[in-house]
Amino acid sequence: MSKQSNIIAPSILSANFAILGKEVKEVILAGAEWIHFDVMDNHFVPNLTIGPMVCKALVDFGITKPIDVHLMVQPVDDLIKMFADAGATSITFHPETSNDVEKSLQLITDLGCKPGLVINPDVSLDVLDPYLADLYMVLLMSVFPGFGGQVYIPEVTKKISELRKTIDNLEKNIRLEIDGGVKEDNIGEISAAGADTFVAGSAIFNKSNYSDAIQNLKSNFS
Ligand code: DX5
Ligand code: ZN
Repeated sequence: MSKQSNIIAPSILSANFAILGKEVKEVILAGAEWIHFDVMDNHFVPNLTIGPMVCKALVDFGITKPIDVHLMVQPVDDLIKMFADAGATSITFHPETSNDVEKSLQLITDLGCKPGLVINPDVSLDVLDPYLADLYMVLLMSVFPGFGGQVYIPEVTKKISELRKTIDNLEKNIRLEIDGGVKEDNIGEISAAGADTFVAGSAIFNKSNYSDAIQNLKSNFS
């Protein structure tokens, strides 16, 4: 199975929350395929962001592109249910936040969403072994989660290549998403290593022209 189509998923963590609906519509018009929605609880990660009500508000505002919910919360199951109700498309969580990873993944699927696991920079890919074949996506963190605007950890590139090989050997369509410090000057290397889904927060929302920002990212795909 070869790599799937490339997807840019702007992380709204770097958007202007006072005008969030408008910001999301603008990045979609500018060429974003998905919207990446970072949920932080000030417990699993040292920051607090937005919850299911904001997800539902975006859907009610007319956002129809996939909403890619990245849960950085502990515990996860109640929020999985709330985000499924709120219109999430995919839901990813960190395996260390669930008492029963298999059950939490099944819950996501049963509620009609696409399940994924998130691997922190210091977590081994081996953690994926029992679950990988049933995942829609793996999200590899290239920064420690909690904040936008951090610098890409270069050692993660090797992990991308390794996971790409494992996914290809499985012959399954599992998306390989990368999150943290993705910029126009490193997206080529990240894409060459085998990622197909690219979260970018500050590289898009901190620019004045979202169209140019997204096109610059896309023009550097390998
Ligand atoms: C970090 C979040 C990321 C973050 C990415 O904990 O999961 O999605 O917003 O932001 P940038 O692209 O600025 O590193
Ligand atoms: Zn994220």
